[in-house]
Amino acid sequence: MQGPSPVRSGRSDVPTLVWPKTGRYTGPNPKRERVPMRLSRYFLPVLKETPAEAQIVSHRYMLRAGMIKQASAGIYSWLPLGFKVLKNIERIVHEEQQRAGHIPMLMPTLQSADLWRESGRYDDYGQEMLRIKDRHDRDMLYGPTNEELITDIFRSYVKSYRDLPLTLYHIQWKFRDEIRPRFGIMRGREFLMKDGYNFDLTKEDALHAYNRHLVSYLRSYERMGLQAIPMRADGGPIGGDYTHEFLVLAETGESEVFYDSEITDLTFGDREIDYDNHAECQAVLEEFTSRYARTDETHDAAIFNEIPEDRRRSARGIEVGQIFYFGTKYSEPMGATVQGPDGSQAPVHMGSHGIGVSRLLGAIIEASHDDKGIIWPEGVTPFHAGIVNLRQGDAACDAACEGLEKALIAKGLDPLYDDRDERAGAKFATMDLIGLPWRITVGPRGLDKGVVELTSRRTGKSEEMTAEAAVERLVQIYEGV
Ligand SMILES: Nc1ncnc2c1ncn2[C@@H]1O[C@H](COP(=O)(O)OP(=O)(O)O)[C@@H](O)[C@H]1O
Ligand SMILES: [Mg+2]
Repeated sequence: MQGPSPVRSGRSDVPTLVWPKTGRYTGPNPKRERVPMRLSRYFLPVLKETPAEAQIVSHRYMLRAGMIKQASAGIYSWLPLGFKVLKNIERIVHEEQQRAGHIPMLMPTLQSADLWRESGRYDDYGQEMLRIKDRHDRDMLYGPTNEELITDIFRSYVKSYRDLPLTLYHIQWKFRDEIRPRFGIMRGREFLMKDGYNFDLTKEDALHAYNRHLVSYLRSYERMGLQAIPMRADGGPIGGDYTHEFLVLAETGESEVFYDSEITDLTFGDREIDYDNHAECQAVLEEFTSRYARTDETHDAAIFNEIPEDRRRSARGIEVGQIFYFGTKYSEPMGATVQGPDGSQAPVHMGSHGIGVSRLLGAIIEASHDDKGIIWPEGVTPFHAGIVNLRQGDAACDAACEGLEKALIAKGLDPLYDDRDERAGAKFATMDLIGLPWRITVGPRGLDKGVVELTSRRTGKSEEMTAEAAVERLVQIYEGV
């Protein structure tokens, strides 16, 4: 099994690791250090009662599973379990962005108002922008997005078409003073977003960057166990002629959507793609956007009604990402120009591309749960498997659990061992609530027969097997996740 061997990018001035352009991430890296985690020493403040303020299932389960705690309206602390899932989602986003050739960096949360005055958005953005004054009475703001800041970075260093194409991205906290923050982290005021910005010499190159983002987003969401459908959308305050939103279908979604049911049969899967190949990326865009799929802002009943009636669907969806091509909207007023091959100066063509990293936790739970709790897809689960000791303190059971824990860690997996002195029912209920996709149950009766029990959270089905076989099975399951 080969890990995702990082290779140096071709640019000597950007010492960035990139992932191979094609192929899939190939499972947990055995060299990654794991610290054994025992529930008796963990911080997992599970709630028995359903919190009254939570209106939707993802918010309820995130509170009950001790993943988040509200700090103030629309602002949350990420408790250890929630933080782990957040980091897993971030990791997938990082891997898929770098695989597409996009370069990670980090910009600050606080920005100077001056740049926003240059683009003309300081006044346009309205009350959603949190405006702050520093001690010198200078106007600052907590960034709701980063087009201005990145354009300023770009224009400071890049002067020639030879340095293009370039796509920079970061994963950073944003603040939007939403009038009605709700549904927990789903519509927060502070939230984590991946935002990427492409700089290209021509419109054609910028549209290729748009396509690359579409492909890398499809891959990212699928690795998180989600189907997110690209739908034609409206530019909003970012503006632009081309934009798609990615929507996860869910009754609790805030967006109204209309689509051709054929679109839900499409999956990207683990096909190979060469991100440098314009035609290949364009073909994926066409495949995924040629059928009718629009949000209510761009919905056109006349076109929709041309679809055969049995394929017309209207539903609700959660927006988990959006991509934009907006040409020279920021580069022109901010003077982000490069010298072209013929020596003339021209503003660069840009686009911006966002993934709602923190919102994704909610979207995944809305899409994957039952009445006992969360069911994490393997790609994002906070722990790969739970180990439940049915008789804590029994020498044979304790030794078997510790052996399993060690063996899983040695294989690069991350188990959570419930070593508390609790009834079996309480341990199962906790595991079901926090949603680990696999559970290994160790009890004296099984051990007499030389077996443990491996249970799937999704199907509820259990199988008896030796501890070694259970470890092997989990290694196989997580290969390629
Ligand atoms: N208030 C919020 N709370 C959580 N996530 C958000 C919030 N606003 C936006 N996002 C996420 O960030 C992604 C990119 O943001 P953007 O498209 O600029 O937002 P919007 O469409 O709300 O203006 C969205 O697709 C969404 O997933
Ligand atoms: Mg959007």
